[in-house]
Amino acid sequence: MKYALVVKNVSKQFDDADQKFSFKKILNKDKFNAVIDVSFNIKEGEIFGVLGPNGCGKSTLIRMISTLLVPDEGSIKIFGKEIGKDDAVIRNMINRVSVEAAFFKKLTAWENIIYAARLYGLSKEDTKKKIDEILDELNFPKNRINLPMENLSRGQQQKVAIARAFLTSPMLILLDEPTTGLDPKSKMDVQKFIKKVMKERKNVGILLTTHDMNEADNLCNRISIMSDGKIMVQGKIEKLKKKVHVKDVYEIKTDKSIMRVYNFLSKIKTIENVLRDGRKIRFYTKNINLVLADLSKLLARNKLKLIYLKSVSPSLEDVFIILTGKSLEQDEK
Ligand SMILES: Nc1ncnc2c1ncn2[C@@H]1O[C@H](COP(=O)(O)OP(=O)(O)OP(=O)(O)O)[C@@H](O)[C@H]1O
Ligand SMILES: [Mg+2]
Repeated sequence: MKYALVVKNVSKQFDDADQKFSFKKILNKDKFNAVIDVSFNIKEGEIFGVLGPNGCGKSTLIRMISTLLVPDEGSIKIFGKEIGKDDAVIRNMINRVSVEAAFFKKLTAWENIIYAARLYGLSKEDTKKKIDEILDELNFPKNRINLPMENLSRGQQQKVAIARAFLTSPMLILLDEPTTGLDPKSKMDVQKFIKKVMKERKNVGILLTTHDMNEADNLCNRISIMSDGKIMVQGKIEKLKKKVHVKDVYEIKTDKSIMRVYNFLSKIKTIENVLRDGRKIRFYTKNINLVLADLSKLLARNKLKLIYLKSVSPSLEDVFIILTGKSLEQDEK
């Protein structure tokens, strides 16, 4: 079995912006660790997800893999070719889609696509046939292809960026939040397309970052969860969910005054991560028995009716919250 990507002990520091003109910078003291000792690999045919809150280092990692940034430490290999040694070959093997995709804004979508296709040596006819197919699958409105990029909606631009990346049959595809900002239907179109490509091209590897837990659950074989530049945990999604199961996830609903229940649960030491989700509350505890007596007193005192208290199976989001103490959805707002 071949590895599409092997990342070994990679670290990256940036100069701390606040220290731009200080002596500390001259002395090389104040550096910011954006990526710290990160290692993982992606097999051929695999979609690997990297999840983590804003600023945890996902895009920095992807920029290093796409030869746009030089790592301070560690090594990166793409199908056996090493970054720093075989960069020209590597650039032909990879393609990246990011939220800030670069286009010629005044040129049309088609002109941007054909420009990229020429760089990769594709003929106009081949490009036309292939791009029609891809844009169809992404449900991109055909009559927009001859509009300047700057006149396309953000979601439409994102679809053109995705189509452009998949056009040239790259061997490693780096998708940095490919569906952020897309409407639910477009999101599904893109996910369906990614799945289809992986079925057809068995030797491709995909690295995908996302803030959407359902997306990771739907697309990825394995994931890494990053926080502050480090990998907190990685592995198969099912296995990660099992890890959380020992902690036990509960959901409670009462007929009214849900905030009172929320405040009560938040103060209990044996309970972690109390989250309000509309009229329900979700929380984690290793021993529900320690809570029950006080909880029933609270309900009686406030004349609250318990609609249910049940143990629920953990979602990928629960794994994330327990490991990082942060909610991805809160980060996005
Ligand atoms: N060129 C740079 N110079 C200085 N600091 C940088 C630079 N690029 C990134 N950083 C910092 O490195 C950290 C990681 O940024 P990065 O863009 O990798 O995060 P991210 O995980 O992709 O976040 P998001 O989910 O918001 O896209 C951030 O604190 C950011 O400010
Ligand atoms: Mg990013």
